[in-house]
Formats: sequence, C-alpha cells, structure tokens
Amino acid sequence: MSAAVSDVSPDPVVYLNGELVPLSEARVPVLDRGFIFGDGIYEVAPLYALEGGRTAFRLPQHLARLARSVDKIGIVNPFSNDGWRKLIGRVVNANEAAGGLRADQDAIAYIQVTRGVAKRGHAFPAGVQPTVFVMVTPLHLPDAAQRAQGVRCVSAEDRRWLNCDIKSVSLLGNVLMAQFAAENDAFETIQFRDGMLTEGSSSNVWMVKDGVLSAPPRSNKILEGIRYGLIEELSAECAIRFEAREITEADLRAADEIIVSSATKEVLPVTQLDGQPVGSGKPGAVFAALYAAYQRAKVKEAQEAQQGAKHESAEQSERLAV
Ligand code: PDD
Repeated sequence: MSAAVSDVSPDPVVYLNGELVPLSEARVPVLDRGFIFGDGIYEVAPLYALEGGRTAFRLPQHLARLARSVDKIGIVNPFSNDGWRKLIGRVVNANEAAGGLRADQDAIAYIQVTRGVAKRGHAFPAGVQPTVFVMVTPLHLPDAAQRAQGVRCVSAEDRRWLNCDIKSVSLLGNVLMAQFAAENDAFETIQFRDGMLTEGSSSNVWMVKDGVLSAPPRSNKILEGIRYGLIEELSAECAIRFEAREITEADLRAADEIIVSSATKEVLPVTQLDGQPVGSGKPGAVFAALYAAYQRAKVKEAQEAQQGAKHESAEQSERLAV
C-alpha cells in the first residue's frame, strides 16, 4: 500500500496512460525509462479554490514550460494545451466526486511524462509511447507564521548538471540539497555555482538591495519558475525596480531581503542564511508588496476564469473545469 499523499483521501484518483485509477492501483513497469534512467519531465501547477470555483493559476505558462521540457528531450508532447487542461479537469472532478478533494480546498496538479517502456539501453528507443501520469492533491501553502517570521535557509555549492532549465524528473542533485536543508533544520538550500547564485533545491531565489529586486538571469543554470515571469510583472505593478543579473555570494549575504518562490510556496521571505540574519532579520517591505500583489493576481485570474466559464457552452466549460 502506498503512503498517504493526501490529507483528505489516502488514495486519490490519478490518471495513468488513459485511465483514471486509485493511486494504490497505479502501476508502471520497472522498465519504464523514468524508473530506469530518470528519463522524463514533470510539471507542478497550482489549482486554487477561489471566487466560487476552481481555477488553474498560470496554466498556459505551465503548459508552455511542459512543452519546452518535452521538446528539449525529444519526446512528442502527448497532449495539446487544451487536452492537458481537460485532463487535469477530469482528475480534479474525479477526486471531488470521490470526496478526495474538497471543492474549497486549494490543490496542486502534478504531471509527469516519461519516454516510456523499453528494453534497457541508454539511447532513445524507437516507437515507444510516453508514459503519462497526472495526480491532483491538496495544496498546503506556507502558513502565516512562516510568512510573518520568514524561513531559515542554508547554502551549498550547486553540483547539478548544466541543463537545469529542463524540468527533469532526474532530481537527485535537488533531492540531496533538500536533504541537506532538512538535516540542518532549514527550509531550503540556496545554491551557488562558482560563487554565483543559482537557485534553491526546489525554488527560485530573489534578493533586494536598496529597494531593487534582482534574480539570476534566465539560463541553463536555473529552472525558470513560472513565478519568475509573474514576479517580474508584479514588481512592475508595485513600482519595484527589477534587474535580472548575476548575483555573487557576497551580494546575497549583504542583501536587505531574500525571497524564495515556487508553485507550492508562492513567495516566502528568508530571514536567516547560514545562521546569519538577512537584513533586519525580519521579512521586508518588498516581500510584503509582492505577497499582496500575488494574492491579488490569484483573485483576478480566478475572476476572469469564472467570467469566461459563464460565457462558454457546456462542452467548453468542461474544458475550463479547472
Ligand atoms: N519546483 N527551481 C527549481 C529547481 C524548482 O524545482 C522549482 C519548482 C522552481 C520554481 O518553479 P515554479 O515557480 O514554476 O514552481 C525553481 C516544484 C514546485 C517542485 O519540484 O515541486
């Protein structure tokens, strides 16, 4: 029996290769290249319960990144954007109907695509069907105390490969960094490559100095979070100057504020790095402004989606069920 993945249902309904099945019954052959080689990609997208419905947040951007990821590793995208949206909607509906997800509960969609099942051999096999897995589980955002006090982070050398722009399921480097944080009673490990900031084990990292927000530029050394573009937009909305630039370890340690971002964390202030306070040691004004703007963006997108759904036909609104 698998471990409980959801507080509501220990056995959510998942999608695997064309079927909706309980997670405990979902099986992939051991020769799946995801298992054998970590040969696959994934996506993690929030589905908020807001404005009397459930709406996916920034789903077009998540699906565009998924398309880039499969493209970069030579897998043909198994679905169109509309197909993915419908599929996520089906998994949401199945879990809500089975009582595994409350309609008022925020959720997270996890999508994984691997190259498929083939006799073991490193190079791409011919004629295999990708394995497609979709799971929707409750999302637990950071709590008010974490936002009010900020979180502690540690740092380490970034020893991962140089294709960090691919959202690959080959996550051992990230797993080791997350474990390093856990062993040091920290929330996240912030990584440096050759003295330059890259990112966290599962988040992007931002710094504020003298009111200017900055982050490492988009490159193969980081995963471009969907929150990267979002935070650029939000900073413009809040009249906060943003600069994508190389950030040295010394810059980061002298920052007034450090912020981490991801689908599951939204934005969170880092108030301690390697045991030293960040700036004043308290969450800063730029974090507060970005957090408030983020919440407004969620509501605005949910309102627009609900408005759009009202004007759609029944068949189309099923597509917008998420
Ligand atoms: N991780 N960088 C890395 C290495 C990540 O794993 C993530 C997200 C991000 C932020 O991306 P986004 O803003 O799109 O969530 C940056 C997800 C949440 C995960 O692996 O569960």
